[in-house]
Amino acid sequence: MKILVATEKPFASVAVKKMREVSEQAGHVMNLLENYGNISDLKAAVADADALIVRSDPVTAEVLDAAPKLKIVVRAGAGYDNIDIATCTARNIVVMNTPGQNSNAVAELAFMMMLYQARSGFSGRTGTELRGKTLGLQAFGFVGKCMAEIAKGFSMETFAFDPFVNDEIMLSAGVKPVKSVTELYSTCRYVSIHIPATEKTRKSIGYNLISRLPENGVLVNTARKEVIDEDGLIRAFEERKDIIYLADVEPDCSAVFKEKFPGRYIFTAKKMGAQTEEANINAGIAAAKQVVDYFLTGNAKYRVN
Ligand code: 3PG
Repeated sequence: MKILVATEKPFASVAVKKMREVSEQAGHVMNLLENYGNISDLKAAVADADALIVRSDPVTAEVLDAAPKLKIVVRAGAGYDNIDIATCTARNIVVMNTPGQNSNAVAELAFMMMLYQARSGFSGRTGTELRGKTLGLQAFGFVGKCMAEIAKGFSMETFAFDPFVNDEIMLSAGVKPVKSVTELYSTCRYVSIHIPATEKTRKSIGYNLISRLPENGVLVNTARKEVIDEDGLIRAFEERKDIIYLADVEPDCSAVFKEKFPGRYIFTAKKMGAQTEEANINAGIAAAKQVVDYFLTGNAKYRVN
């Protein structure tokens, strides 16, 4: 079979090498398309692919139209909002993700942004410490759990809201469950977002939540920019001169922030959360193994459609 690894934002070469080993040892051919400039490059590369491994690369109906042999798409990562699931399902294409494989890298990036901002961006101005501060986790999945673990080391007081996770699981991780997302935003100086981008969550975090943050509140978004209602975000920032937004990656309204709210945000230019060698290796190998196993045994454990 032909496996195409298409990553506009490349994996570390050590990860690609290991993915190739996994594929070739199972008798498959792995082709690589990295740093591609436009969708036509992806369409050309996918023409003879039986399997496709991607990161945040858009797998749209247009791409799928160009891939008549495609049987499986694996998103080497957690969020699969970049994949047209309905079209894949209609064409009997299996879609999987690799949950948990890059979570620690994302959590470390969230803390890096929190620390850098707390220390006034190395400007020389007096900063603040994380110790004793409240941290609210909006969702307690793989990344949320890594956040809680790191927060322990900083002696933060950690809360979480996740309607899909039992209180006992949070409590055993030293995290206090709260009853609503409103309570989370009202209680915690730092709120870190770890929800997926879905029809339900898109633009779900807006003025009503952000304006509740306690004094000097910090909103940390290493999830997806799409979950933020940016009009509401701007309104909250206009009213509250003390709140901060840290985001991986730049929101659509970044020009407004640059003009109106200098010093009150950090935006990565390129999505950096999962960009570590370890995360690349973990997610890349998991994806390659899932493809190989699917072709060999039909195992579809991580299927999402
Ligand atoms: C994910 O959903 O796994 C993360 O957001 C990482 O995305 P990336 O692979 O595009 O860096």
